[in-house]
Amino acid sequence: MADARRPLVAANWKMHKTREESRRFWDAFSARLTPESTDRVEVVLCPPYPSLPVLAEAGLEERGVFLGAQNVHDAPRGAFTGEVSVPMLQDVGCRFVIVGHSERRIHFGESDDMIARKVRAVLEGGMTPILCVGESLEQREAGRAEAVVIGQLEAALAGLDAAGVSRTVVAYEPVWAIGTGRSADPGDAGRTGALLRRYVAERYGEEAAARVRILYGGSVNPDNFGAFLAEPEVDGALVGTASLDPETFAALVEEAARREIRAGRGGGDIR
Ligand code: PGA
Repeated sequence: MADARRPLVAANWKMHKTREESRRFWDAFSARLTPESTDRVEVVLCPPYPSLPVLAEAGLEERGVFLGAQNVHDAPRGAFTGEVSVPMLQDVGCRFVIVGHSERRIHFGESDDMIARKVRAVLEGGMTPILCVGESLEQREAGRAEAVVIGQLEAALAGLDAAGVSRTVVAYEPVWAIGTGRSADPGDAGRTGALLRRYVAERYGEEAAARVRILYGGSVNPDNFGAFLAEPEVDGALVGTASLDPETFAALVEEAARREIRAGRGGGDIR
């Protein structure tokens, strides 16, 4: 199982934490991190823009943790007041960028087209997009959940080749589960993961499908994460609320590492 997908646990802090609060989080979180976990699990912190350099300078990569942004503009530079580009994110040490989060789609009018351009720009910049897809409650109740998530995936991947798709991380985040304390049923998340992977297999081939990582997001916490991780199609989580507390987020990372240890995976490259 040398090429098993590496699990990924990503913190989406949204519009939370000043620079000082970010520093305090890192001190507490890094004190709890063990190489046994970071050798098996990819851990990503996505703070607000001002805290990116703070965390980079705190040396998070030396501890096996990666930096991500919550958004990006697809142009490298230009007259786009308020926006931040791929080269700027590279410059502060970002490796990941969340793209198309439902809050961006809903509150900032991000279209499928914009999201596709951002995914391409992030990949071209050598970073990893964490592409969010997910249906609203109305869409789910109308029986359209599958069509919506596949439609969002198809639109966002448009124009990519199999190699680009393999490097993309897809986060299935039902809108009604985000920040509500009401997570999806793990079995449903697993079935949606399987659906997304099948789409990738049909369009981009089996190898891309075997490589693309699929996360679940929406009210993940230490009590329910184990059930999501038990789903073979779920490769980790994008975590909002439960990522704001260092102890809670560290517990999620450990949970993912335990799954790998139980499966006898990872840890061969302990530094
Ligand atoms: P939540 O947010 O964990 O607070 O539900 C998840 C997300 O929006 O990525």
